[in-house]
Parts: sequence; structure tokens; C-alpha cells
Amino acid sequence: MLFRVPRAWLEKSEQMKLLKYMIMLLFLAVIIGGLSSCKYDSEEDLYGIDDCDTDGVTYQDNILPILNRSCTACHSGASPSGGVGLDNFDLVKISADNGSLLGSINHDSGFSPMPKGQDKLSECEIKQVKSWINNGMLYD
Ligand code: HEC
Repeated sequence: MLFRVPRAWLEKSEQMKLLKYMIMLLFLAVIIGGLSSCKYDSEEDLYGIDDCDTDGVTYQDNILPILNRSCTACHSGASPSGGVGLDNFDLVKISADNGSLLGSINHDSGFSPMPKGQDKLSECEIKQVKSWINNGMLYD
């Protein structure tokens, strides 16, 4: 025989157990490594694809739902918070024109951060507001 496995090695069941244990550890390491390597792989990071749609943003389709969700609870009616009404197109345009709409949701210095007492709007929502303003504040 060309290669003789020493009997002493094979017969030592303790050593076989150790070997199996090490193989299991190796498998675990591969599986855990495989899982964690995908953790931060968003499409945007990998390919520069941004799944936030900022094309053709309009008041009716995009801005109104954002405002209704996060702002008009305080900014509507006869005496809106801070004297800032956001419950119709013309009022929203006033805040957009004077910079306070974007400044406040972007938490820029010099503006009260909005929505007050709540989480910041998502990056996508802020991008959509920005796009809406930059593209002339379309109604629909
Ligand atoms: C819980 C109530 C509340 C919510 C919700 C809220 N606001 Fe306000 N907002 C206020 C108050 C009160 C003020 C007056 C300034 C202050 O107290 O910080 C204000 C002020 C503002 C101002 C003027 C800020 C400045 O510095 O000139 C803007 C613009 C504004 N809010 C926009 C928004 C927008 C946009 C949202 C939604 C994303 C929103 N707010 C959500 C309460 C709220």
C-alpha cells in the first residue's frame, strides 16, 4: 500500500469526533460568512440604481400624500402651527418658494426640523419634494 493510515489514528474515536467537529465548524463559517457578506448589498450600493422615483413628481400624485401623512395634522385649518398652512396647493407653494418647506424637512440649520416630534421623512420623500420644487411645482 502506498499510503498507510496509522491504525492508531483511525481507531481513536476521540480524534474522529474532533475531525467531525472541525468540519462542522468549517461549514458554519462558510454559511455565516455567506449570509453576512450580503448584509449591506442594496441595489443602490452595488449598481448605483436608485429605486426612488423622482421623475414627473406632481402635487396631486406625490406631494399631497406625503403632506397628508406627515404634516397636515398640524398645518391645516384656520390657525395652523407656526402660521404655516400646508393644506392646499397655493399655501404649499408659498412655503416651497420661501425655502422653508425643503429647509424644514431636510433639517437644515435656520429652520425648525419637521415633522415636529416625529421621524425625519425618508430620503426618497425628501428627494421627491426637492425634485418637485426644482421642476416648477407641477399640480398634476
Ligand atoms: C406635531 C405638529 C407638527 C407636525 C406633524 C409638523 N409640523 Fe411643521 N411646525 C409645527 C410647529 C409648532 C411649527 C412652528 C415652529 C416650531 O414650533 O418649531 C412648525 C413650523 C413649520 C414650518 C416653518 C419652519 C421655519 O423654520 O420657518 C414649516 C415650513 C413646517 N412646519 C413644515 C412642516 C412640514 C413640511 C411637515 C411635514 C413633513 C410638518 N411641518 C409637520 C408643528 C408641526
